Amino acid sequence: MGGLTRSFSNERFAMPAALVTGGTTGIGRATAELLHARGYQVAVTGQNPESLARAQSELPGDVLVVRSDGRVLSDTDALMSAVSARFGSLDLLFLNAGIFRPAPVAEVTEESFDEHADLNFKGQYFTLQKALPFMNDGGSIVLTVGIGSRRGTPGATVGAASRGALLAMLPSLALELAPRRIRVNAVSPGATDTPLLNKLGVSESGRDAMRSKIPFERFGSGQEVAEAVAFLASDAAGYITGQDITVAGGYGLGA
Ligand SMILES: NC(=O)c1ccc[n+]([C@@H]2O[C@H](COP(=O)([O-])OP(=O)(O)OC[C@H]3O[C@@H](n4cnc5c(N)ncnc54)[C@H](OP(=O)(O)O)[C@@H]3O)[C@@H](O)[C@H]2O)c1
Repeated sequence: MGGLTRSFSNERFAMPAALVTGGTTGIGRATAELLHARGYQVAVTGQNPESLARAQSELPGDVLVVRSDGRVLSDTDALMSAVSARFGSLDLLFLNAGIFRPAPVAEVTEESFDEHADLNFKGQYFTLQKALPFMNDGGSIVLTVGIGSRRGTPGATVGAASRGALLAMLPSLALELAPRRIRVNAVSPGATDTPLLNKLGVSESGRDAMRSKIPFERFGSGQEVAEAVAFLASDAAGYITGQDITVAGGYGLGA
């Protein structure tokens, strides 16, 4: 962690700092909790007032909870001001905010297409761009992609493409940031038990059908994805850049 070696005299600045977008629920929230437990200063974002309020009351009191719509660039500017005012700089940027609203090609609306592209790709891209001046050299960037960007699922065209765009840029980004020793990697969750499944309205029988396709016969947890993010951010992954770690219980390995 680049932050451990910074030479600030204030002890608070000696702790590494992480920004987790979409950190109010699910995978992001589990990651924020894990990082905090491992000694990070943490900031999380979300946009829904209810999940923001819940995160504010349930996360440790020193976690910075910021309302910031990832689709709105002026929100992202304000987010960076808040984060830099609190932490000074960042050691980990976890770009995780995202949506997935499946629909067959024939039923995809322009509105839904734009919503996915604006958050999952454009929003992530400009959050990264705006965070870079605050990233410490030697820091780490982790992007949430998803196994659906490499394995087919009917109804997932827009979700897969909007996240797959992140995978496409990963090698170039890793090369661009290598001179600063900033490592850029991705995590690709398979079916993970988070509020997303409820938002999708997946029934119990639908969940059973999903489980039956997973070699481990269960959903992953947010904590299991969080462990991969924490690893990628750690010194243990200090020679790893431009890679995508799949956390999917074996899903997608077979024919
Ligand atoms: N769960 C899975 O099976 C799975 C599989 C593959 C990939 N993924 C990806 O993993 C990421 C996390 O998903 P999850 O399962 O943890 O889902 P989740 O519980 O729905 O969490 C999504 C997070 O993104 C935030 N978010 C949504 N729209 C936003 C916006 N416009 N601006 C800022 N934040 C916004 C949400 O905050 P609000 O509540 O405030 O909207 C929430 O904090 C997503 O990108 C998802 O596509 C999930």
